[in-house]
Amino acid sequence: MPGCLKERPGFFIEMDTAPSPPHPFVEFRDVKFGYGARAILDGVSFAVPRGKVTALMGASGGGKTTVLRLIGGQQKAQRGEVLFDGSDVGGLDAGALYAARRRMGMLFQFGALFTDMSVFDNVAFPLREHTQLSEALVRDVVLMKLDAVGLRGARDLMPSEVSGGMARRVALARAIALDPDLVMYDEPFAGLDPISLGTAARLIRQLNDALGLTSIIVSHDLEETFRIADHVIILANGGIAAQGTPAEVRESADPLVHQFVNALPDGPVHFHYPGVSIEDDFGNVEGGRS
Ligand SMILES: Nc1ncnc2c1ncn2[C@@H]1O[C@H](COP(=O)(O)OP(=O)(O)OP(=O)(O)O)[C@@H](O)[C@H]1O
Ligand SMILES: [Mg+2]
Repeated sequence: MPGCLKERPGFFIEMDTAPSPPHPFVEFRDVKFGYGARAILDGVSFAVPRGKVTALMGASGGGKTTVLRLIGGQQKAQRGEVLFDGSDVGGLDAGALYAARRRMGMLFQFGALFTDMSVFDNVAFPLREHTQLSEALVRDVVLMKLDAVGLRGARDLMPSEVSGGMARRVALARAIALDPDLVMYDEPFAGLDPISLGTAARLIRQLNDALGLTSIIVSHDLEETFRIADHVIILANGGIAAQGTPAEVRESADPLVHQFVNALPDGPVHFHYPGVSIEDDFGNVEGGRS
């Protein structure tokens, strides 16, 4: 029983460790980050609950991949804290950062497989790079991961011989090869047909629950993402426009969120990347946009 005193015969009394209050697995606290003078995130705070699937959504160029890079420590916040399981990623030394990264699996946006390696070797790659496992154990782990994504039978195929949806599942097996605690998926559904998309989405959900992961999924596919996510964060114009359950976010009255969940092309989130005015580029255009 958690938190109670337990007697061990003859020798000592031991305090069973009570489960620590589950702090969020990832937390941003007032994070500011920009490339050069352009602020991408300005005072962003959110929490990614442990054991859940969290969707990170928002307009293209809004900073979603940047958020993942801050969690992975490839970029450092210019202000605020990026906490990964309670530690500020920006403050970790190289060794601690390496250790933290081993606990993260990443499916990169446009993340391709290594084209000159078989499906098996693609999944084996992180194991061979990061562990001292014998080849016999590597084989067992690779086949288990491929089995989890339904592709144990495809182990000997080359990437050119698998479909786009299968390649994504192989990349998924590779992302979970090291048994991470956190898996970050950047656009896992891009370019998939509706059937493969549904399969990939269900797989992300199932892997999260079966392996006890915490998952962050960046996606533009609103319907499928809302279907599998427990928690949704919408990033817009440098801040958080909404966060909550899919139902809560759908009901949000915020115009930014309304634009997003209803897929409106323009609104508070601008279609155009900031730049000089259209008049400056083309002169005065009759009927041109303001
Ligand atoms: N290495 C970089 N150097 C300079 N600017 C960058 C760099 N990476 C991204 N940016 C800029 O930062 C902004 C946010 O980029 P990011 O890739 O995080 O967006 P995103 O939300 O993932 O977009 P998408 O949905 O299109 O993938 C963009 O305006 C982009 O131009
Ligand atoms: Mg991106």
